[in-house]
Amino acid sequence: MTILVTGGAGYIGSHTVAELQRQGYDVVVFDNLEHGHREAVRGCPFILGDLLNPDDIGRAFDEHDIGGVIHFAAYVEVDESMRNPTKYFRNNVQGTVNLAAAMAEHGVKQIVFSSSCSVYGQPEVVPITEEESQKPESVYGVSKLMAEQVLRWFDVCHGLRHVALRYFNASGAAADGSLGDEYKPATRIIPVLMEYLLGQRPRFFINGDGYATPDGTCIRDYIHVDDLATAHVAALRYLAAGSPSAAFNLGTGQGYSNLEIVNTVRQITELDFEVEVGPRRPGDPPMVWADNRKARRELGWEPHYGLREIIEHAWRWHSSHPDGYGQGGP
Ligand SMILES: NC(=O)c1ccc[n+]([C@@H]2O[C@H](COP(=O)([O-])OP(=O)(O)OC[C@H]3O[C@@H](n4cnc5c(N)ncnc54)[C@H](O)[C@@H]3O)[C@@H](O)[C@H]2O)c1
Repeated sequence: MTILVTGGAGYIGSHTVAELQRQGYDVVVFDNLEHGHREAVRGCPFILGDLLNPDDIGRAFDEHDIGGVIHFAAYVEVDESMRNPTKYFRNNVQGTVNLAAAMAEHGVKQIVFSSSCSVYGQPEVVPITEEESQKPESVYGVSKLMAEQVLRWFDVCHGLRHVALRYFNASGAAADGSLGDEYKPATRIIPVLMEYLLGQRPRFFINGDGYATPDGTCIRDYIHVDDLATAHVAALRYLAAGSPSAAFNLGTGQGYSNLEIVNTVRQITELDFEVEVGPRRPGDPPMVWADNRKARRELGWEPHYGLREIIEHAWRWHSSHPDGYGQGGP
């Protein structure tokens, strides 16, 4: 079966394309390369196109015999979404509408969608289950929830079944250092720390302390990007078996504080470095981690990597590709 991967030149998309290929799927990647990298897409057809242009996405279905879709293409920065909501609603919601419309028109009935734990906002209970109330606290989070709702109604109206995978904090890189996170400027703690260690930024800040956590810094659930990749293949199998539309949390089920991240980076890199405490970010919940039992049970998936491997692989990638794709490494 041929799978169309929107956003397949981006961070999580490129790792998932490699996993699909490992598991014998044919893949077609569709990306406008605004944040993606052509060099990250290997061994499959690549379509340079924009989801906001219905002709571009229609052409992908006209030219290839697509059996299912994995939809990563979106903007991903919470802070930017609050400064520019139009940009996020347009790309993340309208882009999903255009994709779903093209699928309905071409009779393609299965889609795996990149959603996010940000659809929950401040959780009432941790670990977070899929039944947690959905009160996103950012335009980005709302845009992901709206896209889930678009897909729900395309199921009701057109029989287009979906799996929404609500990722926690995607992190790490391919174990062999061949693929990794090249989102610029880095905004997530691990790539930001890596850039600091490589001398690419002068200082490193933790976003606030004094939270109600054991060491006072925020706790998050870091999930290895290759564990996310295997979950997408499991979700395709779930849909191919005729199972109904559903949402699944994808995390390890274990949280780590910002200081634990810093200390693990110190151990693995054997580098010592200064850490400063900056201001808190508005709306940052103190503790977020996933209850992943539904994904384990219904997708037959489980994460294989922990925090040490996430940081080992991220360091291998960043230190061998200080300027990203096209430089150094395999
Ligand atoms: N990184 C995380 O921790 C995280 C967490 C939760 C959810 N997600 C979701 O996962 C998905 C992938 O995130 P990522 O971290 O790999 O980001 P990324 O920016 O690396 O990848 C997104 C890709 O989509 C492409 N794209 C964006 N808009 C497009 C459009 N209109 N037409 C064609 N291509 C377009 C970009 O060029 C890029 O290659 C996103 O939907 C994001 O919301 C990410």
